[in-house]
Amino acid sequence: MELRVKRAPRIDIEITVPGDKSISHRAVIIAALSNGACTLRGFLPSEDCMHTVNAMRSLGVKIEQPEPATLVVHGKRRVLTAPKDEINCGNSGTTMRLLAGLLAGQSFETRLVGDAGLSRRPMDRVIAPLCEMGASIVAEGPDGTAPLRILGGSLRGIHYRPPVASAQVKGALLLAGLFARGKTTIEGAVPTRNHMEKILNYFLVRTAVEDHGSITVFGDQVPESRDFAIPGDISSAAFWLVAAAAQPRGHLLIRDVGLNDTRTALLAVLLRMGAQVREAVEDIDQLEPRGIVEVTGSALKATVIHGKEVPQLIDELPILSIAGAMARGKTIIRQAGELRVKETDRIAAIAHNLRTMGVHVAELTDGLEIHGPAPLHGARVASFGDHRIAMAFAIAGLFADGETVVQDAECIRESYPGFEMVLEEFTNPKRMQVSTPVIGSLTPTVPETS
Ligand code: S3P
Repeated sequence: MELRVKRAPRIDIEITVPGDKSISHRAVIIAALSNGACTLRGFLPSEDCMHTVNAMRSLGVKIEQPEPATLVVHGKRRVLTAPKDEINCGNSGTTMRLLAGLLAGQSFETRLVGDAGLSRRPMDRVIAPLCEMGASIVAEGPDGTAPLRILGGSLRGIHYRPPVASAQVKGALLLAGLFARGKTTIEGAVPTRNHMEKILNYFLVRTAVEDHGSITVFGDQVPESRDFAIPGDISSAAFWLVAAAAQPRGHLLIRDVGLNDTRTALLAVLLRMGAQVREAVEDIDQLEPRGIVEVTGSALKATVIHGKEVPQLIDELPILSIAGAMARGKTIIRQAGELRVKETDRIAAIAHNLRTMGVHVAELTDGLEIHGPAPLHGARVASFGDHRIAMAFAIAGLFADGETVVQDAECIRESYPGFEMVLEEFTNPKRMQVSTPVIGSLTPTVPETS
């Protein structure tokens, strides 16, 4: 599928965005382990999250989907059953890494497979600590990559300091820790998104957070089933926030979006680049803060992004690179080498596409230097099979001369079904309000097992 984009007229719009991807994955897994039925509203019915749903179904969990964004998960009190077949994680790194943690503590063997892209991504970061806990995991691919054959077993808690700041690694170890003897502590010198910790607390699982940032889970606990509403995904909102921020006097209001402070570093960056940004937490009853974000655009200034900020906006760096191309001065992104092992090598992909659109950019080993403001030229750009690259360059197209064509844009469905419809509203504003569209292509499904 190709996405064709033209320059946006004045932006003045109010939208909502689909449910948070990271929270959706985690909510399904913890609900499946709980002691009863949980209704999850605001679930993200994207391809990535549906891989997690189908994986849990294949492990014997009944999951109904009466509407695309509503799941009823029938918790199995931690008793999972061996899948009949290998589990396909598609292109979802979160699915594969979180499941590796979950399956490490089961008394059966499973095989996790992914598509070609996922099969190139590093898995040693979860394999090493899970083996230290007592699991036996064989990476069948070259260089410790998928497919993964996991022979779960009786695990013991460990104290672990991951060499990379990764919420997926932390999440995998917390899941394994639930099934381990004793306590499992993960040190995190650099904070990463804390959704797993919050969901565990909400489901009344005993954890302990230390001042220096470590998190401990105590083994052998059954999560208490609870209903749960998932807020909109700030990482999906990011595309529209940057579009509004980069258009002088552009205005955007997004309602019901997640405002967890381990995810909102993008807002601080847009503020220091010169946009007006307002966030208002409206609901503190739910376990995740949610509310309104409002942005008014201006002529942006370049900025520097590095250090502890990087893990807090790792998924926003592609779209922030587009902001950098439109900002006055040199935008520098450093210490972001993790971008090279995402759905594609995002540093190379961003540099390549920005150059194609006429931007002067230097590729660094761990980041980028982007010289702005550059007049963007409409061009054919590649998605590299990466949803965030496809969406970031669709937004670049809103600011370019002529037409921009994003090739192979179907990958957008992995995280943001309905993106194209909102994009259409930005280029052809007929209405002032765009809500999360009902996703026709994802029909409600019946559970495979009961
Ligand atoms: C995610 C964590 C991040 C992020 C990914 C989703 C998660 O990856 O890039 O899109 O849900 O835990 P890392 O934890 O590997 O940095």
